[in-house]
Amino acid sequence: MLKNKNLVQYLALGFKEVEGWCGEQVFTTLDLLDSLDINKIGGCLEIGIHHGQSYMLLNQVIDAGATSYAVDIFDNQEMNIDQSGVGSLAIFKSNLEKYDVHKGANTVSIVGDSTDPSLKLEEVVGVGSMRFISIDGGHTPEHTVSDLNLACRLINNQGVVILDDVLHHHWPGVMEGVGRFLHGYPTLVPFALGHNKLYLCKISYQAYYVEAFSKCSLATRPVVFYGHRIIAL
Ligand SMILES: C[S@@+](CC[C@H](N)C(=O)[O-])C[C@H]1O[C@@H](n2cnc3c(N)ncnc32)[C@H](O)[C@@H]1O
Repeated sequence: MLKNKNLVQYLALGFKEVEGWCGEQVFTTLDLLDSLDINKIGGCLEIGIHHGQSYMLLNQVIDAGATSYAVDIFDNQEMNIDQSGVGSLAIFKSNLEKYDVHKGANTVSIVGDSTDPSLKLEEVVGVGSMRFISIDGGHTPEHTVSDLNLACRLINNQGVVILDDVLHHHWPGVMEGVGRFLHGYPTLVPFALGHNKLYLCKISYQAYYVEAFSKCSLATRPVVFYGHRIIAL
């Protein structure tokens, strides 16, 4: 039973109308994250939008006054070097009008390659400002390492980063990338894994989120992932 009414509404009326690959289990984990006492401030950001299915899921729990960011190369598909999805700005905007809780009013669409320094994402978005970040753009090891490093800087200290396709056999680059990232002793570390998504937070809050997710209805057992004790969903 979802607590957040915007999530209930999106699941009933929008989610299945939008093309995408996001599992419904994310409604449960996001509802749990939204119900916690910490991480209440800031917008969301997604790298890799396609038509907006998972972006709009995250934005349902964001307050109208907070700005959220949708980063995708969209119609510049020649930069989609591993052919992961096919973003479309026109379809995304139309879906925002139909299904987004804020009808697109708090969304800034950023057209570009997430690895391109000239986008100046740290300046535009703000270091340490995001409540939730989803990474689902380029699926090579290089994109994964770059996007995780960027997320480590953009997420607020209590925020949560969700990395997609971490266990998908069509996209082994994501697993290679996350391994290489974690071997660098980053301060963004995993706390849960399930339904093809890895959940990460800043190291000071890892124990807090492990404890919170151990009580999640989807929790199965604790496991060790690259040296971190996390919850398998
Ligand atoms: C798998 S789809 C995203 C699906 C979406 N998150 C969902 O669950 O509905 C991947 C998206 O990443 C975009 N993309 C690929 N490479 C990118 C890059 N380097 N920077 C930004 N976006 C990229 C593609 O255009 C595509 O829309």
